[in-house]
Amino acid sequence: MDAPAHRNQGRFLRARSPTGQLLAEIFAFARSFAGFARGRAARAVLLVVLATLSEGLGLILLVPLLEISGETATPSRLTRAVSEGFELVGLTTAGGMLAGIVGLFVVAMIARGALLASRQILLAEIESSYLIDRQKTVIGLLGRAGWGSIAGVRHSRILHLLGTEIYRVGQAAVGLVESCVAVMAIAVYAAISLYLDAALSLLAFVLLGVSALIARGLLQRARRLGEFTNDAHLSLLNDVTQFLGAMKLAMSQNLQTSFVSQFGRSLDRMLVAEIGFVAEQNRVRFVLTVLGTLTVAAIATFGVAYAKVPAAVLLTFIVIISRLSGPALQLHSHLLNLVRTLPAVRTLDGLVAELQTRTIAADPSPLAFQDIRLEQVHYIHPGSDTPESRQAGIADVSLSIAKGGFIGLAGASGGGKTTLADLIVGLHAPQSGRILVGGAEVNLTERPAWRDHLSYVAQDAFLLNDTVKENLLWSHPGASAREIAEALEVSGAGEVVNRLPNGLETVVGERGALVSGGERQMIALARALIRRPRLLILDEATNAIDVGRESKILERLNALRPELTIILIAHRAESLRFCDEICILGEGRIVRRGSYASLREQLVAISKSDLEGSI
Ligand SMILES: Nc1ncnc2c1ncn2[C@@H]1O[C@H](COP(=O)(O)OP(=O)(O)OP(=O)(O)O)[C@@H](O)[C@H]1O
Ligand SMILES: [Mg+2]
Repeated sequence: MDAPAHRNQGRFLRARSPTGQLLAEIFAFARSFAGFARGRAARAVLLVVLATLSEGLGLILLVPLLEISGETATPSRLTRAVSEGFELVGLTTAGGMLAGIVGLFVVAMIARGALLASRQILLAEIESSYLIDRQKTVIGLLGRAGWGSIAGVRHSRILHLLGTEIYRVGQAAVGLVESCVAVMAIAVYAAISLYLDAALSLLAFVLLGVSALIARGLLQRARRLGEFTNDAHLSLLNDVTQFLGAMKLAMSQNLQTSFVSQFGRSLDRMLVAEIGFVAEQNRVRFVLTVLGTLTVAAIATFGVAYAKVPAAVLLTFIVIISRLSGPALQLHSHLLNLVRTLPAVRTLDGLVAELQTRTIAADPSPLAFQDIRLEQVHYIHPGSDTPESRQAGIADVSLSIAKGGFIGLAGASGGGKTTLADLIVGLHAPQSGRILVGGAEVNLTERPAWRDHLSYVAQDAFLLNDTVKENLLWSHPGASAREIAEALEVSGAGEVVNRLPNGLETVVGERGALVSGGERQMIALARALIRRPRLLILDEATNAIDVGRESKILERLNALRPELTIILIAHRAESLRFCDEICILGEGRIVRRGSYASLREQLVAISKSDLEGSI
């Protein structure tokens, strides 16, 4: 689209009335849903039309039934047409014709039942597969998103979407489909009533149109309630995830009481909004029922007093119009449901669009583990690159890591150590400079095969709320008992497991809350080793372990060289004593590099004070 046209469309969108905007939103959702359902949606609509036609056919048979049994002198054209049809098949007596009509009625109603059953099955299939498809889309995009972008997405947003909102999206799909079904049924009934009597039909349509106008105001309320519910659910989930994440802190400072009352207040507000809406909905429903009854009364009066409609036709017409009020009321409630749940569709589309712009291409080709070289690598975290904020990341970093090497990274907090490790893992791609593996430049973010060679133990050792054994097998599901024992031995976690009440079968709690910080780190290290990495990156991964045990662990890791290459990030000077080379980072740059012996004094100074003061 060219720019001026785009601007015009923007102006047009802004100029729309709230109802216009709502309709545009419904239309956009309908288009994307129809794109998914394709032929199945058309089949469902056809089934609805056929089922309604069958019912309509059954109902209009009332006209010949009444006229033939009452032996009307001037039968309506419908009765004449039916009689002619029956005569063609040899049914000429009144009794034969009545039996024929009853037979047709039974066939029509059975056909309607069968069509409705197939329609329900088809609609349920479309709705469920739509839901699954949307969930798979989100999960698939999460799996393909780059770390740099996904790290900033709130977990509560994803949980909210996949836990609650996705079901509201399902409800929106149901609302949409059922509204279409009701519209089709109304259209078929309208066509049948037009066939019976045009003047009465016009009167009925005008009165029903007035009812629709009255009901319209509620759609805006439904939309506002939908948005309110959406925001309220998200903020509740946000509060819960934050609270659960910091449960110990909250409990130790008595913050749980205020959390509970705040949570209760939010739920009460949601309840008030919900009850208010249901009351309003039922008030409007009552008004619509009254209007429906008045419509029938007006039709009866007009039909008898002015239009002189034959009694059988008038009676059948009234039955048809009364039947029409069923789908009309259904349309009303399904539309409300749709409008209420549309904000969830918007939330989902928003996240999908956001993730779609952040996916990274994956090159499945293998990549052998070789010497690594970083040349003038530069990476500034997105968002920190503004005039107001200090640029955060790393700049102009050149570094060689030979196979079997042991490299140490040190420096004050915020110096760029984790960022540098993330670049080597391939979680970020350099914005300038190069990373070479075996002498060839590689974009590691796009090479999943690279990550098969390495294990990364992050600063905050994360354990699943499962047994120690399951935690270990998570990184290498096929590990043998011997491999588990070896990993436990090197990491020092064997000693931990022996002390646990159920050994390897002990459950470690949410994020490993039931074991100590040091024990958690040893289990995390065992999990990293069990997959037999070629490169082990330890980001302050042993800093909670007592110095004596940490020293022995590092000694055992050192003995795994040259098969294993190690990058160790540490604040404690003595942790770095096995390193071939140590780089000290400050404000994103390597400010010193050298052997442990040459940097020892400085490393001790750093571990005691902030880098700013020492470099
Ligand atoms: N995802 C991010 N978005 C924006 N800035 C970030 C992000 N991650 C880190 N930073 C910033 O980048 C700088 C380097 O962070 P990094 O985590 O690499 O430091 P570090 O040397 O590992 O520090 P520490 O010793 O405290 O772990 C810091 O100023 C930090 O605030
Ligand atoms: Mg760090």
